[in-house]
Amino acid sequence: MSSKRIVVLGGTGFVGRHLISRLCAEGHQLTVLSRNLDAHLVRFLPPGSQRLSCDVYDGAALARAFTGADVVINLVGILNESGNSGQGFRRAHSELTYLVTSACREAGVKRLLHMSALNAGRGQSHYLHTRGEAETVIKASHLDWTIFQPSVIFGPDDGLLTRFRELLRLTPVLPLARAECKFAPVYIKDVVEAFVRALDNPATVRQVYELYGPEVISLKKLVRRIAQVMGWKRLVLPLPDALGWMQAMLAEWIPGKPFSRDNFRSLATDSVGGIDGLHRLGITPTPLSSRIERLLGSADSRQKRLDRYRRQLQ
Ligand SMILES: NC(=O)c1ccc[n+]([C@@H]2O[C@H](COP(=O)([O-])OP(=O)(O)OC[C@H]3O[C@@H](n4cnc5c(N)ncnc54)[C@H](OP(=O)(O)O)[C@@H]3O)[C@@H](O)[C@H]2O)c1
Repeated sequence: MSSKRIVVLGGTGFVGRHLISRLCAEGHQLTVLSRNLDAHLVRFLPPGSQRLSCDVYDGAALARAFTGADVVINLVGILNESGNSGQGFRRAHSELTYLVTSACREAGVKRLLHMSALNAGRGQSHYLHTRGEAETVIKASHLDWTIFQPSVIFGPDDGLLTRFRELLRLTPVLPLARAECKFAPVYIKDVVEAFVRALDNPATVRQVYELYGPEVISLKKLVRRIAQVMGWKRLVLPLPDALGWMQAMLAEWIPGKPFSRDNFRSLATDSVGGIDGLHRLGITPTPLSSRIERLLGSADSRQKRLDRYRRQLQ
């Protein structure tokens, strides 16, 4: 595989950290754009990657950052906005995607890998609706695009296993909205592999790949499984929709908005996929059950080390 100059947006998050390490290890030259490098400085960035502070909503700045690149990868996505109008989602998903495609054209970059989500354009949530709008922008762009649509992604430091483990740690009873919603969790290394394979493969141009794992599990069963792996006795209590909606409303007042009415709407649609994009790319999907104990175990020991360190500081 030839070395490429790759610019990544949204590369400071969970997926970006894994993807960038892998791409650097493959010998590519990475430039990671970030709105707020200071917030992410301590976290990572392997040698061989360059960080660039950039207002990604400034089209001219984007075009400058893209100049000379072979590939742009857009990983930007949000699960929640401030307010409830949908404007925050529209800005981060469709408007930013429009700016990215325009900047690619201006800078002469043909290849664009775009991270979307399963069910983009379906259902009632602003999240999924604007994901669909962004895909429409990409498909109209005349670039050599590839779109990836993952179900929920699991792996070290993810927002799935780690998040529910921390919630379960805090409470003996966990009331759960949309507890019957189904997922096909996909392993982060498989997601990264999909991006890597797409980079150099012309057959992936103008293709959409659903990325999902081989096991389908409801939210309720997943949360119960996490409690079981941790050896904790917990009551996971599915809420009827009316109460789930109220839980979402209340959670919007908690700093960081851990759950929202828009999330509630997104969870009305199972995140399970239909055409196996990993197999299309020659990747054998990793089952969640083969990794869950190790991931929760190692995350827990990390947490314990951190707790010990904090106690020492007090
Ligand atoms: N994790 C999953 O289970 C999952 C499932 C399906 C789809 N996806 C999609 O995969 C992509 C990566 O996911 P992730 O879990 O790595 O996300 P993440 O950890 O939240 O990181 C996303 C990055 O996007 C940038 N960003 C956040 N809000 C932004 C905004 N309003 N405008 C512009 N940039 C913003 C941030 O970079 P800076 O602060 O450095 O600018 C952040 O590091 C996202 O598009 C996500 O929706 C993820």
